[in-house]
Amino acid sequence: MKKWKNWLFSLIALLAVAGSFLPAAAQATSTSGSDTAVATTAETDATYEKVISSGKLIVGLSADYAPYEFHATVDGKDTIVGFDISIAQHIADSLGVELEIQELGFDALLGALTTNKIDMIISGMSPTPEREEQVDFSDPYMTVTQKVVVRAADKDKYTSTADFNGVPVGVQKQTTQEELAQTEMTGSVLTSLQKVPDLITNLTTGKVDAVVLEGPVADAYVQQNTTLTIADDVTFVNGTKQTAVAVNKNSPQFLAAINDSISEITGSDLLAEYQEEANELMFQDDTSFFEKYMPYFISGTGYTLLLAFVGVLFGAVLGSVFALMKLSKYKILRALAIIYIEYVRGTPLLVQIFIVYFGTTMLNLNVSNLVAGCIALSLNSAAYVAEIIRAGIGAVNKGQMEAARSLGMNQTQAMRYIVFPQAIKNILPALGNEFVTVIKESSVVSVIGVAELMFQTGVVQGASFRAFMPYVIVSLIYFVLTFALSRLLGVAERRMKTSD
Ligand code: ARG
Repeated sequence: MKKWKNWLFSLIALLAVAGSFLPAAAQATSTSGSDTAVATTAETDATYEKVISSGKLIVGLSADYAPYEFHATVDGKDTIVGFDISIAQHIADSLGVELEIQELGFDALLGALTTNKIDMIISGMSPTPEREEQVDFSDPYMTVTQKVVVRAADKDKYTSTADFNGVPVGVQKQTTQEELAQTEMTGSVLTSLQKVPDLITNLTTGKVDAVVLEGPVADAYVQQNTTLTIADDVTFVNGTKQTAVAVNKNSPQFLAAINDSISEITGSDLLAEYQEEANELMFQDDTSFFEKYMPYFISGTGYTLLLAFVGVLFGAVLGSVFALMKLSKYKILRALAIIYIEYVRGTPLLVQIFIVYFGTTMLNLNVSNLVAGCIALSLNSAAYVAEIIRAGIGAVNKGQMEAARSLGMNQTQAMRYIVFPQAIKNILPALGNEFVTVIKESSVVSVIGVAELMFQTGVVQGASFRAFMPYVIVSLIYFVLTFALSRLLGVAERRMKTSD
């Protein structure tokens, strides 16, 4: 009976916790838009005022899209370049503010805009009726056609969209290309991925037989990779799309300023100049792969270690608190700890990262992506650490506590001097394993644009037009990190054993 009541209580509390997350999560992905845009009425343009008063324009984009936006080494330094960047720079200059770039996955951009993480999106994005429900678009700065890239050997195999019946086709997730393939290559078997370079690997390795890409991007890949070609005969009915800048609704002044810049650019030779510059940067190739891209992996390794270290450290602190709560004699503390631990362990880290990332904005906490990533990892790790500690203490023979108590120690003393020193031997090795796990898990944080190893892998893929090699390299780096760490832990564990 009592047990039953406990369960009911936990369930209600769990639902309450879940409920408190719902509005935030729903708002982050809301499609209704009008209520999520913070900019208020037409007269006071909050975005414009924020940009001018802060002196910086925060632009969100997904830099996997050469020649629109991609990474290149400029003066020995990793830089995001491309004609979209030149346009954004022009807009920032004409507003008299600094340009700040926030790199995110393409599918995270609209959410970041409507939650005011960024001021505008420039990412080769096409206005669509669904997107226009959420955000406003500037005047278009380009009109492009969609192309189908296939392996060179298959060039003559495909002459129309009907030829893709039963054929595996790759598209970028949540893009107009995805929609186009769904509506016009109806018989095809779609694979939707987050990053364009991954689509290309799928194509070159035969996982898909075609990829639908924006014209300029398709051309760039075909020029870089002789094993690929464009199936010229395949055309789409709705394949002509425009490209524009997205801003939050109710930002008339901001939008007008952007449109002024765009008309200056499209009304002159500037756009052609920007495209020319982007092309040059795309084909600069003077150094070897390793020379050029090692710095990305090195800095990524630094961030990965930082994330894992901070995650485990704060996870351990918080985890100890939860473990003590779970062992406490107060039901309410126990219940809270159980709810937290079960909730965190029962939901994917990816979801937790997004909840922290968007949730911090909802709570008006202005934290950087790196901090959001650290918070998410720490909160996640805390749940696992709590269980490690609880199990470690639980594994100490009950008789130890009883003996200590019968010697006249109180509960706290017995715990501190007798039980805990024995428990620590069980806990430390498991904590080490948790460190190894967090090193690997931290790769998920790349979705919110933290420049750790996995993120840098994407950068290198986009910049080098090589998709497979960076994965091999990054897997080796992860392996070296985790293997070295577990060897180290093994040594420490053996030392502790002999000190019995
Ligand atoms: N034009 C397409 C769209 O609006 C794809 C854009 C993808 N951009 C990117 N930077 N990956 O959906």
